[in-house]
Amino acid sequence: MSTDHDPIPLLDLKAQYATLRDAIEPLMHDVADSQWFIGGPKLDAFEIAMAEYCGTSHAVGCASGSDALLVSLMALGISSGDEVICPSYTFFATAGAIWRLGAKPVWVDIDPVTYQCDVAGIDAAASQCKRLKAILPVHLFGQASDMEGIEATAVKYDVPIIEDAAQAIGCRDASGRMVGSIGATGCFSFFPSKNLGGFGDGGLITTHCSDLAARMRRLRNHGMEPKYIHHEVGLNSRLDAMQAAVLHAKLPYLDGWAAARQRNANDYDNMFGDAGAGDTHGGLGDFDLPLLRPARPTSSAANHIFNQYCIRVPAAIREDLRAHLVEQKIGHEVYYPVPLHLQPCFKSLGGVEGDLPHSEAAANESVALPIYAELTMEQKSRVAETITAFVKANSTAGV
Ligand SMILES: Cc1ncc(COP(=O)(O)O)c(C=O)c1O
Repeated sequence: MSTDHDPIPLLDLKAQYATLRDAIEPLMHDVADSQWFIGGPKLDAFEIAMAEYCGTSHAVGCASGSDALLVSLMALGISSGDEVICPSYTFFATAGAIWRLGAKPVWVDIDPVTYQCDVAGIDAAASQCKRLKAILPVHLFGQASDMEGIEATAVKYDVPIIEDAAQAIGCRDASGRMVGSIGATGCFSFFPSKNLGGFGDGGLITTHCSDLAARMRRLRNHGMEPKYIHHEVGLNSRLDAMQAAVLHAKLPYLDGWAAARQRNANDYDNMFGDAGAGDTHGGLGDFDLPLLRPARPTSSAANHIFNQYCIRVPAAIREDLRAHLVEQKIGHEVYYPVPLHLQPCFKSLGGVEGDLPHSEAAANESVALPIYAELTMEQKSRVAETITAFVKANSTAGV
């Protein structure tokens, strides 16, 4: 039955913009007045600020997070027939970038507690590869991968790490290192739903290496340097001045928004915990309420910036729960319903159901809830109460 309550969107960008309009509008007028839309001082200033924020020597703006991955792989010389290890439970772009270069994604499963790449799985996959050229972990949902474990394999096989940090800007790993500052490159997305979102598409690559940075700057601009001389074929993937201005203005608020997201996550944790839920250290059948909250990083040096707050419910009731949330006007999403090893376009790689059980279970059981910074206590309570009541009433199904 439908509700009279106001809708609670999955993300309310208008609420954020209302607090920033006065700061951002003059900057957009500046760009319009300058008529300097591509490159220039606004981009330079934002790149410097991002390098400082991430603790790297260089930051290279580009047109999207997808292109940040593609340009990184190109700059590291990945080409046809090469193998790159990556998770299957991630957004498509992670593997799409590998595939576009004619290289082969080598899938690994996730750790079901953290949703991050399983480190033992990476090592096992590496031992089977004949042309392994890179490892591409994803810091999924805003939590860092186990970078020390991944570095051990990367050193053993002498391959670089490309961090997909699209969902994790401002997040630190178990040793307190900023994501994007650990691998050979770090790839960020400024898609509007990210914690630092632009007014359109945008991306950025971080690196400590001057040679890599120089090559990535060339690659994002048709491989051109000097003007009209092309030593290699690149792409048109520049971050425009308008995006750079908006993102630069938002950057000082980023950590505050992450803290608000963490508070929201704590509130959900408490509400779901009080109703009898456990966290992903356990299984759905282990607690009074078959609902799992996301487990927190175990290291106090690490943080979770909660680009997404995903719960798990039994697969048998997940779609009915979603239909109920639609009726109750509560925004939500499934990240991601089909893991990449089962996607039609990657069929030729031979992935079949059962290959990566933890990725497949997460795809069938997860639901992402509203977690944006401006969410009110009343909204959080309604989300948690609606879900716990539904799961309680249907909890005999499939657990
Ligand atoms: C993990 C991951 N990688 C890459 C991307 C690609 O970023 P963009 O949408 O900016 O191309 C995204 C964006 O959703 C993502 O979540």
